[in-house]
Amino acid sequence: MDEKKMIELLNGDIQHEIGAALTYLYQHATAPGLKGQVLRDILAPEIPGELQHAIMLADKVVSLGGKPDLAVPAVKTQETVEDMITYDIELEIEAVKNYTARADQAEELGDLGLKVQLENLAAEESEHRDMLQRLARNIEAL
Ligand SMILES: [Fe+2]
Ligand SMILES: [Fe+2]
Repeated sequence: MDEKKMIELLNGDIQHEIGAALTYLYQHATAPGLKGQVLRDILAPEIPGELQHAIMLADKVVSLGGKPDLAVPAVKTQETVEDMITYDIELEIEAVKNYTARADQAEELGDLGLKVQLENLAAEESEHRDMLQRLARNIEAL
């Protein structure tokens, strides 16, 4: 693991964060019905939340000597609230997996500050995953 490789990996993470923020923005606007209203309430704080993650990662890329990749990824869309939640859970599971790996890689790089920041991101994405999984289980009752 060297700084160049870490910059590349963090840029992938930035792309994932922008994708999540845009996905949640789209779903917040389009989620239908009463179930959709519940999803809207959960996603509302996560739109700026995921962007906040991208801000932190972009700053780190620059401090490592790189350029942040802020290309806008294509956003996958879903019709039903159930499909939206299923997709969002996949996004969060992938984020947890990526940040867990990235924290180990930051340790390899000898950057303990970054390791802790990435562990915190992994913890936040775990909370998102859990919140959405709870919603997936409870939404049947609506
Ligand atoms: Fe995030
Ligand atoms: Fe998240």
